[in-house]
Amino acid sequence: MRGRRAFTLAGMAAVLAGGGWPEATARADGDRDDVHSFAKPAIVRVTRVELDLTVDFPNKVLKGTATLKVQRGKRADTDSPLILDTKGLEIDRVESVGPTDGPTPLKYELGSSDPVKGRPLTIALGKADTVRVAYRTTENASALQWLEPAGTAGKTHPFLFTQSEAIHARSWIPLQDSPGVRVTYGATIRVPEGLTAVMSADRLEEKGKPGVFRFEMPQPIPSYLIALAVGDLAFRPIGPRTGVFAEPSVVEAAAREFADTEKMVESVEKRFGPYRWGRYDILVLPPSFPFGGMENPKLTFATPTVLAGDRSLVALVAHELSHSWSGNLVTNATWRDFWLNEGFTTYLERRVVEDLYGPDRAAMERVLGWDVLHKELASFAPRDQVLHIDLTGRDPDEGMTQVPYEKGALFLTTVERAVGRDAFDVYLRGYFNRNAFKSITTADFVKDLHANLLDHAGPAAKAIDLHAWLDGPGLPKDAVEPTADRFAKVESAAADWAAGKISAEAISTSDWSTFEWVHFLHSLPDRLPTDRLAELDRAFGLTNRGNAEVAHQWLLVAVRNRYAPADARLESFLTTIGRRKYLMPLYAELVITEGKAKARAIYAKARSFYHPIARESVDKLLATAGR
Ligand code: BES
Ligand code: ZN
Repeated sequence: MRGRRAFTLAGMAAVLAGGGWPEATARADGDRDDVHSFAKPAIVRVTRVELDLTVDFPNKVLKGTATLKVQRGKRADTDSPLILDTKGLEIDRVESVGPTDGPTPLKYELGSSDPVKGRPLTIALGKADTVRVAYRTTENASALQWLEPAGTAGKTHPFLFTQSEAIHARSWIPLQDSPGVRVTYGATIRVPEGLTAVMSADRLEEKGKPGVFRFEMPQPIPSYLIALAVGDLAFRPIGPRTGVFAEPSVVEAAAREFADTEKMVESVEKRFGPYRWGRYDILVLPPSFPFGGMENPKLTFATPTVLAGDRSLVALVAHELSHSWSGNLVTNATWRDFWLNEGFTTYLERRVVEDLYGPDRAAMERVLGWDVLHKELASFAPRDQVLHIDLTGRDPDEGMTQVPYEKGALFLTTVERAVGRDAFDVYLRGYFNRNAFKSITTADFVKDLHANLLDHAGPAAKAIDLHAWLDGPGLPKDAVEPTADRFAKVESAAADWAAGKISAEAISTSDWSTFEWVHFLHSLPDRLPTDRLAELDRAFGLTNRGNAEVAHQWLLVAVRNRYAPADARLESFLTTIGRRKYLMPLYAELVITEGKAKARAIYAKARSFYHPIARESVDKLLATAGR
C-alpha cells in the first residue's frame, strides 16, 4: 500500500509541476502489480508447473492435470489461498499431493468472469505445497487453434497449436498468468499415433510409448512462453544447435530459407552474451498462425508467409531469436513494460540484420519502421503513444502497436548515439547478465541504466530526457530519423512515374529487394486511376506476387483504389493467410473504401480458418458502428 501511495503522490506532483503526464518511472514497488492477473504472487507463488495432457482432436479438447508447486511469501499466513488465472477452463478436481500420503481434495472456487482476465481460481491451500488441478479446455480457449486437415499443407492430419502471449496461457493451463511469475515446467503430452508434439522446452527421449512425448524446461520462464504444437511434423537440422520443424512438404524449403540461423545466434552472442537456452529451433506453422513469429523459448513459432524463397523476410528470425536475450531472459514484469521486450528486441534485430546482411538492408528496415510508427502516431490518442503505457482495464493485446517496437528501438538508438556503440554494447551485455532470468519493470530498467551507464557518461547522454521518452506521447526532439540511400532512388522513381514523367517499364527494378518494393508502394499517391494501376500490374506482375509482404502492400493499394483485377487475389489472400498484421489493415481499408458489406462477405468465408485471437480482432473491427 505504501508503494501505491508513493506512486500516486509522485504522479500528482509531476502533473502539478507541469510535466503533463505522471512520472511513472519513479514508481516504487506497487509498480509490480499486474493488473491483468488475479494472482497474488507476493503472498503465494507458483514456482513449477507439471503438465499431463491428452490431446483430443475429435472433441477439440485438452484434458488432464496441471500440478503446481507453490512457495509462500513473507506476508503469507495459514489462511492464504493460492489464486490462479483461468479463462474458459472447466475444473474437474483440485487436490493436494504430498510426497508420502495420497491426494487429498482441496476446497476451491471459480470467481466471476471478467471479459479480459477470465475467472480467478481460488484454492484453499491449508498446509499443501503441491496442488494438482484436473481440468479440461473448452471451445472458448483463446490460445488454441484446432485445425482440420484442410487447414494444413499436407491436408491429411489435423493440427493444434497454442499462442499464450499475452494472457492466453490461462485458457489452456490454470496458472499464475503474469510475466512477473517465472516457473520451470515439465510436460507429458499424449497425442494420436503418427502425430508429433513439440513444446517450448527440451525434448526428452521417448520411452518407446507411441504417441507420448516428454518435455522439460529447466530454466524459469514466464507463463506466456509456454507453448505446444501437435501435427504431422518433420525435422531438418540447420546447424549444430539449430534446426527447423515443419510439415513434411514444407520442411526443405524452410531449412533453405533459414540457413543463416546459426550465424544469427553467433552474431547476438558475440556482442550480448551467451545463448542460454541450449537449442534454437524454428517451427513453421500452418498459414493461420496469427502472428509473424512468437519467441517461444528453444522453439520459435513462425508463419509460413516468411518462406519467400529468397531469405528476404528472415529479419523475423533475427527478431524472435533476439528475444532469447530481451524478453525470455530479461522479461517485462507486467504488460505495461512490454516495450522492454519489443523495443530492445527490435533494436537487437536490426543489429543482427546489419551484421549479416549489411548496413544498407538494416537502414531500409529502420526507415520502414519509422514510417509505420509515424502512421500510427498520427492516429493514436496521446495515452496510446506512450512506451510505459497504462493498459488498466484493457486487453494487453491492444498494446501490440508499433509504439513499443519502433519507438522503443528509437529510444535505444538515441542512447547508443549519445554514448557510442561500443559503450552501449558493453552496457547491454551487462544488462542481460545482471537481469538474467528476472522479470523487471520500466523503473528497474531506469535504475539499471543510470547506475551502469548514464551516471558515468558524458553530457550528451545525461541530456536524454528519459521521462519524455518513457512517459510522454509522440517522439522527443532527439529522436533521429533514419535514412536509407537505396530508398532515395525508389522515391524519385515513384514520384516520376506518378507525375507521368516515366512509364512503369522505364523504372529499373532489377536490383530491388522486398524492402524497395514495399517502400515504392508506400511512396505512391493515395489515389490512382485504374489504368495507371493496371500499367504497374502489367509491368511488375504485382497481383500475382508470391512474396507475402509485397502482395500485402499491393493489395492495400488495390483496395484503396477499388482496383477490381486484384479482387480474386485479395479474397484468396484473406482466406488463406491468418496473420493479423496483414488481415487488420486490409479489412480496415476495405471498410473505408467499400463499407462493411464487402469486408463481411470475405470474412464470412475466412473466419473459420482464423485463430481465435485474429477472429477477436476482426470481429471487433467489423462489429463497431458504421456502414
Ligand atoms: N512477441 C511478439 C508477438 C506477440 C506480441 C504476440 C504480443 C502476442 C502479443 C513477437 O516477437 C513479434 O513481435 N512478432 C512480430 C514479428 C516481428 C518481426 C516484428 C509479428 O508477429 O508480426
Ligand atoms: Zn517481438
